[in-house]
Amino acid sequence: MTDHTLTRPPSDDVDDLVEALAAARRRTRALTDCLPDDELTAQHSPLMSPLVWDLAHTGNQEEIWLVRTAGGRPALRPELDAHYDAFRHPRADRPSLPLLAPDPARRYLAQVRAQALDVLATAPSEARFLFRMIAQHEQQHDETMLATHQLRRGPAVLAAPNPPAAPADAATLPREVLVPGGPFTMGTDLATDPDALDNERPAHRVDVPAFWLDTVPVTNAAYQEFIADGGYRQARWWHPDGWLHRRRAELTAPAFWHRDGDTWLRRRFGHVEPVPPNEPVLHVSWYEADAYARWAGRRLPTEAEWEKAARHDPAAGRSRRHPWGDAPPTPDHANLGQRHLRPAPAGSYPAGAAPCGARQLLGDVWEWTATDFTGHPGFAAHPYREYSEVFFGSEYKVLRGGSFGTGPVACRSTFRNWDFPVRRQIFAGFRTARSA
Ligand SMILES: [Fe+2]
Repeated sequence: MTDHTLTRPPSDDVDDLVEALAAARRRTRALTDCLPDDELTAQHSPLMSPLVWDLAHTGNQEEIWLVRTAGGRPALRPELDAHYDAFRHPRADRPSLPLLAPDPARRYLAQVRAQALDVLATAPSEARFLFRMIAQHEQQHDETMLATHQLRRGPAVLAAPNPPAAPADAATLPREVLVPGGPFTMGTDLATDPDALDNERPAHRVDVPAFWLDTVPVTNAAYQEFIADGGYRQARWWHPDGWLHRRRAELTAPAFWHRDGDTWLRRRFGHVEPVPPNEPVLHVSWYEADAYARWAGRRLPTEAEWEKAARHDPAAGRSRRHPWGDAPPTPDHANLGQRHLRPAPAGSYPAGAAPCGARQLLGDVWEWTATDFTGHPGFAAHPYREYSEVFFGSEYKVLRGGSFGTGPVACRSTFRNWDFPVRRQIFAGFRTARSA
């Protein structure tokens, strides 16, 4: 059993914040030092920024929030603000900006980091939220940069060991688990979780009727049955907008898949390989996930259902920070942090199971939910409106749980991600549900 009685919040220790910032920077360097300058300044897809934009943008945000806001210090490079403002320039336009070249960008990041650490040494504890936010921000860009690597054509430059093989009991797991009905605490507060970003707050009670949830994410093998059964050719399984999009974009399989005779192959960070049957399906849009669920006679879980499955502990009558308890993730709990560059086989990580028995809710693949992205009741933007509030509405669907590409500091059972229902370059899969 895991430590479901533990209520210790994440450490607010300065050394831990320094390490969180350093861990993000190690990943940033691993994702950018492996490519020559012309590949860092190239745009590998109109969906993504040049990698050198992400690089200097993380430094610019760190300067704005840690050096200027937390430290009250003068701006180091105020002339950069306009070029690295994500709201001023859509990704497709960023290659035409007068961006810092890779080496000057690296020097800028180092200069900002030195000042930020200096500020942290004397910052009052109220300012530490900004350091937590910036460590998460850089990890979020590390995942974005990993998606750029996936879209990049050319020989592989990233390497990582494979995840461990599926545990012995994976084949015997029940297909679905029951999540009992009743209220639970959704969302959180800074007093409980000092990492929580504005859209995760405040904590509030939500009554969720009993439902059944897939024990593990939908696998490639299951998804291939949908394809083989003509799932992509039958409008009846698709949301009307999804069907229009499927036809216009000529979708016939997940992104990065192609067929060689009877075999499905995929391209993964420059490697072409057979699609592994027992791995969670990856690179499907919300529309594809929704169509699969209908074809299977099921539906996508709502966001509240997903969160209840991931953190409600019926024995203790409280919500956990993670499915296994409040303790930070270890490599035994979940596939996070780009330790592996693929999802682990379905049924992995028994030590990371939720009280309901579902596995792999955190890590491996982001999971599409049925729910549009809006604020929790009582939402207040903090520290700036543009983090999440400007995205609220029916255009975006919520994804939960993080992927193998998500840094552990940016992953917990309350963390919310959102994207357009057509998006496929993100590391997203799904699981299905049905009402009890
Ligand atoms: Fe950003």
